[in-house]
Amino acid sequence: MRIDVFTLFPAWFNWFADQRHVRNALEAGLELDCIDLRAGTPLSGGQVDDTPYGGGAGMVLRVDVVAASLGGHYGEDPIARARTSRVIALSPTGRQLDDELVDELAAEPALTLLCGRYEGFDERVHERLASDVVSVGPYVLSGGELAAMTICDAVVRKLPGALGDERSAAEESFSSALEGDPEYPHYTRPAEWRGHGVPEILLSGDHARIDAWRREQSRARGRARAERDR
Ligand SMILES: C[S@@+](CC[C@H](N)C(=O)[O-])C[C@H]1O[C@@H](n2cnc3c(N)ncnc32)[C@H](O)[C@@H]1O
Repeated sequence: MRIDVFTLFPAWFNWFADQRHVRNALEAGLELDCIDLRAGTPLSGGQVDDTPYGGGAGMVLRVDVVAASLGGHYGEDPIARARTSRVIALSPTGRQLDDELVDELAAEPALTLLCGRYEGFDERVHERLASDVVSVGPYVLSGGELAAMTICDAVVRKLPGALGDERSAAEESFSSALEGDPEYPHYTRPAEWRGHGVPEILLSGDHARIDAWRREQSRARGRARAERDR
């Protein structure tokens, strides 16, 4: 898989790319590139934004700047590219990221992530230059970089070779293995801590009963979550 991140702060991703599971994925064939939106601007003085039509606070990232950066990098018309490839504009207004979308993205050969800043992108970036607009949650971050890292991290850990033990990614919260429910609780040594023990069943060695207990714990968490979200 290839992931290209378009950002005003490419250096943020140096730390990310240096994390163990990301390095594992890179060694296993992942390609991760960060493209500086300012470096590709056709405007003088490194300008990338402008004041909003209609007035109001803040600056808006220009569509022509994003288009020039995408066109320069891919050597093709960016509108055409968004029709054939996953180009994701990060925005709190977008489709909320969940495990189903992560699975879908992890199956793609290439992803392009567009990180906004300031008031965000000119709407024509969402409409014309992106195939998807994705939010990482109903809150506002200062920029798309952490949102892009969230997507990269969730996608990368699903790629072969990223995790030490591939089973770790198979049966996790919200996975199809758990029918979309949150994961069951985990415990490790000590078996007794300040008078707090661990469920007896986990010490029983009876793996069929342990599996059934875990599944029921996971379902109970799913029901509690649904109740909370009602
Ligand atoms: C300060 S935010 C802009 C917020 C925008 N004015 C609004 O109210 O929806 C700047 C950039 O951060 C990124 N961002 C902020 N929150 C996000 C979220 N929840 N999900 C994805 N991206 C987000 C987007 O790329 C956005 O363009």
